[in-house]
Amino acid sequence: MEQLEITSIKKEIQRLKKEKNAVVLSHYYMTPELQTLAGKGGVADFVGDSLGLSIEATRVTQQNIIFCGVRFMAETAKILNPSKNVFIPDKDAGCSLASSITAADVIKLRQQHPGIPVIAYINTYAATKAECDICCTSRNALNIAKSFDSGTLIFVPDVHMGHNLQKKIAEETGKKLILWNGICDVHEQFSGSSLKALKEIYPRAEFLLHWEVPEDAVAVSLNNRKGVLGSTNDILRYAGESASKQFILASECDLGATLKGMYPEKEFITPCIRCPNIKKINLNNLLKTLEAIDTSESGRFEITLDQELIRRAYIPIKRMLQFA
Ligand code: 13P
Repeated sequence: MEQLEITSIKKEIQRLKKEKNAVVLSHYYMTPELQTLAGKGGVADFVGDSLGLSIEATRVTQQNIIFCGVRFMAETAKILNPSKNVFIPDKDAGCSLASSITAADVIKLRQQHPGIPVIAYINTYAATKAECDICCTSRNALNIAKSFDSGTLIFVPDVHMGHNLQKKIAEETGKKLILWNGICDVHEQFSGSSLKALKEIYPRAEFLLHWEVPEDAVAVSLNNRKGVLGSTNDILRYAGESASKQFILASECDLGATLKGMYPEKEFITPCIRCPNIKKINLNNLLKTLEAIDTSESGRFEITLDQELIRRAYIPIKRMLQFA
């Protein structure tokens, strides 16, 4: 897209947001123009990680929420805010983790492990959440798992995050996790061998690793090297607090742009792996979504969930928010 065209689309988005009483919530994985705040030349009214966006969704005053993220995130906003209209610019923006597990799978797991509490990562669809005891995001997963009295817990669906959590929880509490076999298509690609090679090229760089990267990649990276294994928010905070000037990022490519924007004096080496789902959202379909609000076209973009499903899926999300 030409720069002039981008500028006029952004201007039109800003105008339509006012006209249609709409707010744009945008995840840190979005392309820079979608996650930059409106006051700084972008179009977002709030940018955050999945937990930050869930919380923000409960505070907005506008009637219409447009979610620049993937579908499970927009569903969470709808569950937390059923009286609002929630839209996503492309309903096909899915998630390999969310589609790896269904409500029926959770019911079966419960039958196989009676009485064991089930923790669902927020990267699940509403029907799956409704069968679980509590949700978590990468930011609060550890505290939530530690809060249960039970010595065994079921954690779904991310197997790598589960193994990484298991290691920390076992060290601190001796608890055992029963895991599902879901993976994030993006974080799965950070292998031990690729990170080891980067470690040799950049001997002074610290590692910024998302919980969802495979455990062999974590072992190779953090062995004798400073860095962080955690949530998107942990990564952003650590990069700011560390005295280091150079980091290797193992997470979504555009988080590298977020980091550079926040800490321009630091260097972020980012093997550029993009989430093909979240990248289905762009300035063009955001504009189309705004145009569709209050017209017969709005159903193409609006998240609709059955009232009873909203009621049931709200219970584990509300429990999670006590740990925010
Ligand atoms: P957080 O925003 O909670 O870190 O997770 C983003 C995500 O969906 C990773 O797959």
